[in-house]
Amino acid sequence: MQILLQPPRDEGDAWRAALARALPEATIAMWPDAPSKTDYALVWKPPAELFARVRPAKAIFNLGAGVEVLLAMPALPAGVPVVRLEDAGMATQMGEYVTLAVLRAYRELDAYAAQQREGLWQPRSRIAKSAFGVGILGFGVLGRAVAGAVAPFGFPLRSWSRTRKRSPGVESFAGPAELRPFLAGSRVLVCLLPSTPQTRALLDRTALDALPRGAHVVNVARGDIVVDEDLLAALDRSHLAGATLDVFRAEPLPSGHPFWHHPRITLTPHVSAMTLVEDAALQVAGKIRRLERGEPVTGIVDRARGY
Ligand SMILES: NC(=O)c1ccc[n+]([C@@H]2O[C@H](COP(=O)([O-])OP(=O)(O)OC[C@H]3O[C@@H](n4cnc5c(N)ncnc54)[C@H](OP(=O)(O)O)[C@@H]3O)[C@@H](O)[C@H]2O)c1
Repeated sequence: MQILLQPPRDEGDAWRAALARALPEATIAMWPDAPSKTDYALVWKPPAELFARVRPAKAIFNLGAGVEVLLAMPALPAGVPVVRLEDAGMATQMGEYVTLAVLRAYRELDAYAAQQREGLWQPRSRIAKSAFGVGILGFGVLGRAVAGAVAPFGFPLRSWSRTRKRSPGVESFAGPAELRPFLAGSRVLVCLLPSTPQTRALLDRTALDALPRGAHVVNVARGDIVVDEDLLAALDRSHLAGATLDVFRAEPLPSGHPFWHHPRITLTPHVSAMTLVEDAALQVAGKIRRLERGEPVTGIVDRARGY
């Protein structure tokens, strides 16, 4: 079995070793060395010439959960299944990150930090938990994991997805017609949607205005789902109390971007859920074995849907 491996640049050695352990029967070529024929390609944001030089016969594995970059490649071979990572150690990390952001907003730690800078001893009245809905945009692998992580704290939970969900303790909203009522009850809005033609710029002025006053936005999905100027305007007129941002339209975030020094924005450099090489290699190897046996695998991307 032939595999072409094109992992993130700084993870080449780790990927090669993990894959060799997980699939000792495979012959692994590392991009840019590439045989013209291969059974599987394991790629992360591949250069355009990769699919001009190599056409994988059996499947293309995306070494991350988000596939928007891969699907946008004109040279992506048609008729070959594209398989994405599902959880592979990311769900726990996402649960930790979002729980931290939700509790920080609920317990108003940023307001207390501002008071501390002013030497102000002033307890704030506690916000009723029943009025502190946590809305999760996108209720797939990671959205569900986040709901599970936040659930023990007792906030009302709601989800928004393309199709209706049944999940105990989570009120489900589905489709464009239910977006507004979903937003109206989300004091914290957590974005875990894929970046697709339908979701890009979804969080614009109209959507942000539909959130309750004092809401907090947590974007851990993709930067292009948020309209930056509209988010800044909503923060500046105090409609939003804060935003926690892990993903951006341009990454690294350009040094002059107003997000860097905004007093109501907390940002991190796309670290909310990182690919764990060992876990991811085991998942990919398991799926390759299933495909070799002619068995179905999960995580096949629907190219028309965009995720
Ligand atoms: N920041 C990071 O470090 C990091 C790490 C990993 C992933 N991510 C991002 O997180 C995203 C989600 O990952 P995942 O594994 O949870 O994906 P997933 O399992 O495919 O879930 C996607 C969810 O979004 C919903 N959705 C898609 N298009 C929609 C639309 N137009 N309207 C309403 N709902 C829509 C889907 O609805 P249905 O269930 O009805 O299909 C599904 O519930 C990835 O695409 C990636 O961009 C970020």
